[in-house]
Amino acid sequence: MMTTAPATQSQAHWMSDLAPAPTAHAVVAIAHDAQMLTLRWDDGRISRFAAIWLRDNCPCPACRHPQAMERLHMFIDHETPCISQVTQTAADLVEVRFNQGTAQHAALFDVHWLRQHCYSSAARNEALPKRKFWDAGLNDALPAVDFDDFMGTKGGMRAWIEAIQRHGIVLLKGVPTVPGQLLEVARRIGPVRQTNFGDHYDVISMPNPNAVAYTALGLELHNDLVNWRFPPDVQMLSCLKSSVTGGESLFADGFRIAEDLRAQSPESFKLLVEQPVEFRFHDADCDIRTSAPMLALDSQGSLTGIRFNNWLRSSLKVPEELVVPMYQAIAALWTLLRDPRYHLTLKLNPGELIAYDNRRILHGRKSFDPNTGERHLQGCYLNMEDLDSALRVLDRDAAIGAR
Ligand SMILES: [Fe+2]
Repeated sequence: MMTTAPATQSQAHWMSDLAPAPTAHAVVAIAHDAQMLTLRWDDGRISRFAAIWLRDNCPCPACRHPQAMERLHMFIDHETPCISQVTQTAADLVEVRFNQGTAQHAALFDVHWLRQHCYSSAARNEALPKRKFWDAGLNDALPAVDFDDFMGTKGGMRAWIEAIQRHGIVLLKGVPTVPGQLLEVARRIGPVRQTNFGDHYDVISMPNPNAVAYTALGLELHNDLVNWRFPPDVQMLSCLKSSVTGGESLFADGFRIAEDLRAQSPESFKLLVEQPVEFRFHDADCDIRTSAPMLALDSQGSLTGIRFNNWLRSSLKVPEELVVPMYQAIAALWTLLRDPRYHLTLKLNPGELIAYDNRRILHGRKSFDPNTGERHLQGCYLNMEDLDSALRVLDRDAAIGAR
């Protein structure tokens, strides 16, 4: 068994983490036994850290690479740790000493890091995504950000990302009507997600279309690319031309609607969560299919994704006795999707770019008459990981600036 020297204060301060813990809280009481460290904070919160958890998260250079900041310690190779001693060495530093069989180890923790990584139920609830489900009321309150603010200020970028995280949708105004400009907007956040339609695509009516999007037909609410194992997270549509009659864009909050389905028709909801449905896109160059339930939940039962796209839905392949109930369940969801009380309706103007969470928000459009003018949108996709990451970096920069 390896015995290493105690970490230094400077190593503990950064906790092998570029993100300084943004907390103003102080520890007011410390207790421990062999298996648990208990911290009481100035706001009354109790944080309890298991010995194995603390040992696993030791930030010393032997346990976590000081440059790569990734874990080196492999807990499985060590005896089960017991806490032998806990010492508060400074206002924000706690040294925890462990016995592991015949070996000893010391870990120096920044208490703010411990607060930030507390796994009490109160802390885990605080960390849940701050989503605000919406209905047609959003027609009067659609979040909007100015293009220059988004491209030129951290505040504008933050407002745009937070709107996507909260409402799942945000309008960007004042975007130059230059083909390809949306890619510059996307790259402010991260790399563009490639699909079989390329890094971006033009939504115009065209002869011999390979998708209904490239016609003048009305499009019912749907999610894009549900035939992929991981459909794109964020869809961006930038309006370059909009002089046709019709062609208004429609949006609805799929999670709000699915929650209403869960309340009104729990059996339908259950089927859509449990039974996979195959989705397929094929043209001359590809045949991309996946099977997945139309509604996805996390381990807590919260919605994480919706796949609804009648054009891409393949033939059902469910147990025989579930075929008719599945059609009934899809119809129950579809009926809610068609209800105008959920709809955000928006005629995109040139210079406007709408972005939305394609895993949550459904989009569609009203038909338009291509003989009355021009309609030209450009679209692309982003990964939600890049939005989340960009916001964390903004938080990190703000916290460093505040220190
Ligand atoms: Fe679409």
